Amino acid sequence: MRKLFKGKTILFLVMSLMLLLAACSSSGTGGETSEPKDSSGDSKSGDKLVIGFSQVGAESEWRTANTKSMQEAIKAAGHELKFSDAQQKQENQIKAIRSFIAQKVDAIVFSPVVETGFETVLKEAKDAGIPVFLSDRAVDIEDDSLWVTFLGSDFVEEGRKAAKWLVEETADVEGDINIVELQGTVGSAPAIDRKEGFEEIIADHPNMKIVKSQTGDFTRAKGKEVMEAFLKSDGENIDVLYAHNDDMAIGAIQAIEEYGLKPAEDITIIGVDAVKGAFEAMAAGKMNVTVECNPMFGPQMVDLIEAYLAGEEIPKRVAVEESMYTMDQAEELLPTREY
Ligand code: AHR
Repeated sequence: MRKLFKGKTILFLVMSLMLLLAACSSSGTGGETSEPKDSSGDSKSGDKLVIGFSQVGAESEWRTANTKSMQEAIKAAGHELKFSDAQQKQENQIKAIRSFIAQKVDAIVFSPVVETGFETVLKEAKDAGIPVFLSDRAVDIEDDSLWVTFLGSDFVEEGRKAAKWLVEETADVEGDINIVELQGTVGSAPAIDRKEGFEEIIADHPNMKIVKSQTGDFTRAKGKEVMEAFLKSDGENIDVLYAHNDDMAIGAIQAIEEYGLKPAEDITIIGVDAVKGAFEAMAAGKMNVTVECNPMFGPQMVDLIEAYLAGEEIPKRVAVEESMYTMDQAEELLPTREY
């Protein structure tokens, strides 16, 4: 099965628009809210705040854009930022959060590398009276009083969108569709959720099989390396690459070209993030589609922190609005991309 791209773009765009409208109508309106920090009237409204931000790392174009968005928004609001790059290591994040607690920051923004193992340190923050705002990724912890709100994308939905696109594009294809998957960082929310959402949709399509699946740690270098191994073991039988982010897809595209196949023609390429690099690859005809994961939510995060510290009730879950883009839109949209 080759050349999956069948030009069902209009139908796909209509579906994307419907999904976007549905997301907009539910965004940020989850029933649960966080109790205001202070009902005594002793709020920090209008004060210059000190905000500690424990970021995952600098593993992808997405991450770099997210860091910049957060840094610029905090600066623009006149607050002070204490920034820590965890280099994709959980132990670094735990150290950073403890250091923010020791420095008595007003709020901690935390983008967890993995979902589990943060109870103790988040309890320490709570005991110190420092509110924690989850940014981009969620934690898997029962006691949700340990954080104020989670602002980020719906990763399960991103996985579903990727699979729905594939189902549409291959509606006329007879026979098996062999998919290889490049997973994100093991144990991270986007890797777990993007896999789950994708598998949920293809479960209704028995001809679609994930024949190989391995982590590429969200980086170009690892994406290339793992794709080389996939190609070496069964290159001629791979129909589709589903990469949990664009950086890994871009690394894999290089591996596919070096192997002597044409990305987006011989192997359909699906990425997630919608970074500039993906638009460049799509404009060059080397990538088919990217599902947007919008990192530019620094200003939204600052608003949430200020509102909470000013004593307002805020939702426990705030979703980032996003879309998805195909290769035929890439050339026109590339100059408008912010990240
Ligand atoms: O948590 C968001 C994910 O982390 C992005 O999709 C990926 O590129 C990043 O590294």
